[in-house]
Amino acid sequence: MSTLRVGIIGTGSRGITCIGRQIAEQSRELDIVITAFCNRTESRMQIALDDVNEAAAKAGNEPFSPRFYTKAQGLIDDPGVDLIVITSPTAAHAEATIPALLSGKKVYLDKPIAHTMEDSIAIRKAEEEAGNPMIMGFTRRYETPWLKLHEIVESGVIGDLKMMLIRAVLPYSFYFQTWHRTRAVSGGALNDKGSHYTDVFNWFAGDARANRVNAFGGRHVFEEEKDAPEFCSVCDRDCPYRAEVAMPDTQDQMKGAVDRSYETETDPLKRKDNCVYKSGADIFDHASIHYQYNNGIVASIFYAVYGPQAEDEETLELVGTKGRIILTRLRGEIDIVTDYGTRSHEVIHCKSDDFESSHFGADKRLVREIAAFARGGDSPVDGKYGLEATRMILAALKSIDEGGETVQMIDFFETV
Ligand SMILES: NC(=O)c1ccc[n+]([C@@H]2O[C@H](COP(=O)([O-])OP(=O)(O)OC[C@H]3O[C@@H](n4cnc5c(N)ncnc54)[C@H](O)[C@@H]3O)[C@@H](O)[C@H]2O)c1
Repeated sequence: MSTLRVGIIGTGSRGITCIGRQIAEQSRELDIVITAFCNRTESRMQIALDDVNEAAAKAGNEPFSPRFYTKAQGLIDDPGVDLIVITSPTAAHAEATIPALLSGKKVYLDKPIAHTMEDSIAIRKAEEEAGNPMIMGFTRRYETPWLKLHEIVESGVIGDLKMMLIRAVLPYSFYFQTWHRTRAVSGGALNDKGSHYTDVFNWFAGDARANRVNAFGGRHVFEEEKDAPEFCSVCDRDCPYRAEVAMPDTQDQMKGAVDRSYETETDPLKRKDNCVYKSGADIFDHASIHYQYNNGIVASIFYAVYGPQAEDEETLELVGTKGRIILTRLRGEIDIVTDYGTRSHEVIHCKSDDFESSHFGADKRLVREIAAFARGGDSPVDGKYGLEATRMILAALKSIDEGGETVQMIDFFETV
């Protein structure tokens, strides 16, 4: 394969602002071009094209002229597409991913794998049946500090890994404003964000597998109000969660949300400014989740989406038999204590040169990895990991729904 030809299904925030722009910026260097777009809303493809071509022009690269499709199958069958990138809303992953995998073409699927166990299992089965491993977009696996941390833990300096904690107190009220607000489309905000975390746990836990979970959670802040307006655009309240305020120009999310065409939509699930207080959302705004692995490791997620913007909004703490490590994501910093605390305490600053680009440099690396994968390289993270990450989250949601009862994951797995 010479020039790598990419088709993007779901040309929204993730597909364009993160991945499409990075393809445009690295197009010449990686010999990669975008040849097809698919969006169920046709007008969004021209908006997406203007966006990626602006990025290409800034980088001094040639503009793209992709073919437009409103159905995934059209793009999958397009002989001018070698690599299919799937970044549609989570409930639409299976309808595109299964035929894409079975077509034998290379496939990138963003996390989470799907919104239900049924769809997650069906995608994984298609991947196995086709003998066509895909590559998934678990961003932290492509961020320099997290990769460095993984190396450190593998080196054994903190001894045997025993405990893991991800603290995520995030300013992510947008989950109540977009399609994420219903489990029927997202599998819950916890699936959207927490699947990154369960994947990190599994990455660090190696061959071990989580076998039970209990969790508590609910709604503290985004509770339903009887008189809540429909959308921010028809509301003049002085509210910290207005859509335009709640989608700050951060590196992690929604940066310069691709287009504002959602403002003309009438279907609430196509809008990005649903009032956080209106009825219809069935997701949680906080949770405390605890997993036990079959090798004794315990792992917890301490999570809220109504947190303030803060440099320590996401941290990972690992405790081993000889020491502990804390990674602070927004600072790109690893704080490490080894040798039982008797000798060394070190702070490692490991921001890469592209830390200021989207997802702290991960998307840039990800596009390089996707290109290498499409040219025959191995997948660093395939559907097996995607399935496991979502299985752990859906089991935690079940526990929350059941008032904190322990869920045995094997049972959970078999009963869906
Ligand atoms: N890896 C990460 O860090 C990361 C970050 C953000 C989003 N994501 C994932 O990317 C996916 C998309 O999220 P987003 O924030 O870009 O959403 P988005 O709403 O901004 O974009 C989705 C786009 O898909 C289009 N679409 C909807 N249904 C479709 C269908 N059936 N076929 C084709 N196109 C369709 C929409 O019109 C929209 O343009 C989600 O699964 C999300 O979890 C991953």
